[in-house]
Amino acid sequence: MSHAHGPATPVSSRSGNALKGRIRVPGDKSISHRSMIFGLLSIGETRVEGLLEGDDVLRTAEACRALGATINREAPGRWRIKGMGIGGLVEPKDILDFGNAGTGSRLMMGVAGSHPITATFDGDASLRKRPMRRILDPLVQMGVTVVSEAEGGRVPLTLRGPKETLPITYETPAASAQIKSAILLAGLNSPGKTTVIEREATRDHTERMLRHFGATVEVAPHGADGRAVTLHGQPELRGTEIVVPTDPSSAAFPLVAALITPGSDIVIEGVMMNPLRTGLITTLLEMGASIERLNERDEGGETVADLRVRHSKLTGVTVPHARAPAMIDEYPILAVAAAFAEGTTRMQGLHELRVKESDRLAAVAAGLAEAGVEHEIDGDDLIVHGSRTVRGGGNPVKTHLDHRIAMAFLVMGLASQEAMSVDDGAMIATSFPSFIPLMRELGAVIQD
Ligand code: S3P
Repeated sequence: MSHAHGPATPVSSRSGNALKGRIRVPGDKSISHRSMIFGLLSIGETRVEGLLEGDDVLRTAEACRALGATINREAPGRWRIKGMGIGGLVEPKDILDFGNAGTGSRLMMGVAGSHPITATFDGDASLRKRPMRRILDPLVQMGVTVVSEAEGGRVPLTLRGPKETLPITYETPAASAQIKSAILLAGLNSPGKTTVIEREATRDHTERMLRHFGATVEVAPHGADGRAVTLHGQPELRGTEIVVPTDPSSAAFPLVAALITPGSDIVIEGVMMNPLRTGLITTLLEMGASIERLNERDEGGETVADLRVRHSKLTGVTVPHARAPAMIDEYPILAVAAAFAEGTTRMQGLHELRVKESDRLAAVAAGLAEAGVEHEIDGDDLIVHGSRTVRGGGNPVKTHLDHRIAMAFLVMGLASQEAMSVDDGAMIATSFPSFIPLMRELGAVIQD
């Protein structure tokens, strides 16, 4: 297991070297969680290559085992899952502990909640603060019973599922792939068609993987930016092969590190270019970043590219709210890029950031304040007044059990005048366990 739940480990970084070299970041977290889940819900064996072995995904694997799957690790990143099939899950003997993982817990509520078993979901102090009502509301409409819940619809909570779920049509109240996915997964054990309508398109890994495992899914445009996704219930999912592409949300950290650190020239290999995940790259290109997409190819049903990234003079831009779903996890590191950009960057409509692993709007603002970066929060907008030199220093940035806050401010320290430190780097293991060694390989000075 990783160290994600051990004692707090302070980490610091400082400027020194230009970043040089080629790296490959680990597998995509969203696809890795789903690989385990689809493996569980299939008949036969699923073989996975390139799985992210972060703490979040390992928790999902444990939960899938508790529901009956046989899961083996054959080599780093290579896993085999023997599934139970839709309708075949067994009741878990213990509480399902998802640690820090919002995605794992929410998707698994759709999975376990759609079966006639009782399951209890729990997690760490960060997960216990996150809203689950957004998942429970549609599940209740589908016939799931919420046996108990912590105040405000939070974990720990216990679900009891029906024999089969009721097919529903549901418009999600927030642009969230987790809500969409929980409903579609619950719809797998329904005799009819389940439709999820989203006003803004969010990452489509669930839809793509449903098809890959043999389900029928129809996707139609809805309004200007939305989609209606319809799943035909009770398909027979068959175990298959999955090659997990690398995680663009992890690639974001070395990418911005190279952009802000003078003299840098790096290549990040095989980065997934799914258009619902590349909002950060679009934004950075608008800011004047030197990012070349090389050697575009198909890996595991997704377009991937090698990204050559060179130190660049960035300029502030306005990032429209409509782009948020395609870069929802990238705002902390974009705020770091914006700190080093000449002029003002306004990131619009970030309300969803308040319910991530931490209140990321507040955590980013507090970190910028420590580093002496001028900024404001205006409603749900974050405004950063950048400058090509950032002071850095200050007190250790409080990470609030949030991996992306830790990595973002360690990246800042690679180019700021004074070193940066974060109060706890342990949570980095939830999504990017090799972050520190890979950054050091590029020449970064990071001390833990
Ligand atoms: C994820 C969806 C996003 C994202 C999270 C992974 C997924 O969350 O922030 O890291 O795998 O579906 P929301 O659906 O809450 O926006």
